Amino acid sequence: MGLQRVRDVALIRHAYVRIQDQRQGVGAQLLSHLRSFAGAPILIGTWAGAAWAIDFYKKHGFQQVGDALKVRLLGEYWNVPKRQVEASVVLAERSFGSDQREIDELERSLAQIAGAPGTCGVVVNVARQIGARRS
Ligand SMILES: CC(C)(COP(=O)(O)OP(=O)(O)OC[C@H]1O[C@@H](n2cnc3c(N)ncnc32)[C@H](O)[C@@H]1OP(=O)(O)O)[C@@H](O)C(=O)NCCC(=O)NCCS
Repeated sequence: MGLQRVRDVALIRHAYVRIQDQRQGVGAQLLSHLRSFAGAPILIGTWAGAAWAIDFYKKHGFQQVGDALKVRLLGEYWNVPKRQVEASVVLAERSFGSDQREIDELERSLAQIAGAPGTCGVVVNVARQIGARRS
């Protein structure tokens, strides 16, 4: 199991335990060791069909990100062809991207209310919240 730092995240790469040694906690120990010095949010990309691996990471507090975020992250941190993007999933620690999700939500609210009359104060307030999240 390897850890590759890519800018502000760390990718788990090439996670393999010998078949005869699987399901005895080796993977858990390796993952825990890497997490202890990752120093950045960890992302894992794997095949959508690798249910055993997805299950393994979920047991350790990772969650599968939504489709839009997956496409963005694969483009940003990996170098994979389009076909592979479709067949892949990305897992991240639960806290990952929560700020971004909040920003998206706030921006959606802003777009909805921006056109309505008499909402100036609300718009300013939401814009301030977005600014605070971004800083
Ligand atoms: C994924 C992998 C690294 C996990 O290592 P490990 O030493 O088996 O993991 P642990 O013993 O710590 O954890 C076991 C858990 O992982 C999952 N798991 C691991 N191998 C599995 C298998 N063959 N079938 C189903 N679940 C499996 C299960 O959730 C399992 O828990 P359980 O035994 O209570 O059902 C290892 O199974 C492996 O090398 N798999 C083949 C390569 C691969 O798919 N790598 C991941 C690419 S990102």
